[in-house]
Amino acid sequence: MQTRIALYPGSFDPPTNGHLSIIQRGLKMFDGLIVAVLRNPAKDALFTVEERVELLKAAVNGDSRVQVKAFSGLLVKFAHDEGVNTVLRGLRAVSDFEYEFQMANMNRKLDRNIETLFLMTGEDYFYISSRFVRDVARLGGDVSGLVPANVLEALKKRFK
Ligand code: PNS
Repeated sequence: MQTRIALYPGSFDPPTNGHLSIIQRGLKMFDGLIVAVLRNPAKDALFTVEERVELLKAAVNGDSRVQVKAFSGLLVKFAHDEGVNTVLRGLRAVSDFEYEFQMANMNRKLDRNIETLFLMTGEDYFYISSRFVRDVARLGGDVSGLVPANVLEALKKRFK
């Protein structure tokens, strides 16, 4: 039987419980996921791509169904190189929709075989974003419950 793999791309700076929820729910629909961390030189990042890859790997407890890889350049090119044609994205609220709609259509324009599948973020996670987590942690706020334990530790170290 064919193995069904989806690509779950993002910045993951840092990974949050919202991301983890999408990964767990994605695994109910796919045999495996490739979590793809964008290497974006233009973005002012809190964690390096290598750190984010390691944080994600530890957060999924080494689940063999989840591969975590860095990518640069076009997502559709990376998907093609990995032999995957489904992109998984979480959709939080109305505000996410326009950006996600544009991105999904641009990706499909670039590669007709690419399909984007959206999972509605659960009600516990719809207000969590990496950007808010970064800001709150930087300002000394408590982000426990919003990020996996290993990410919480990494944030504490970064901002101590
Ligand atoms: O977590 P993010 O920052 O919302 O993820 C955005 C991401 C990484 C999925 C998106 O920026 C991306 O795929 N970038 C790669 C460049 C690309 O393919 N751009 C064309 C699609 S609009």
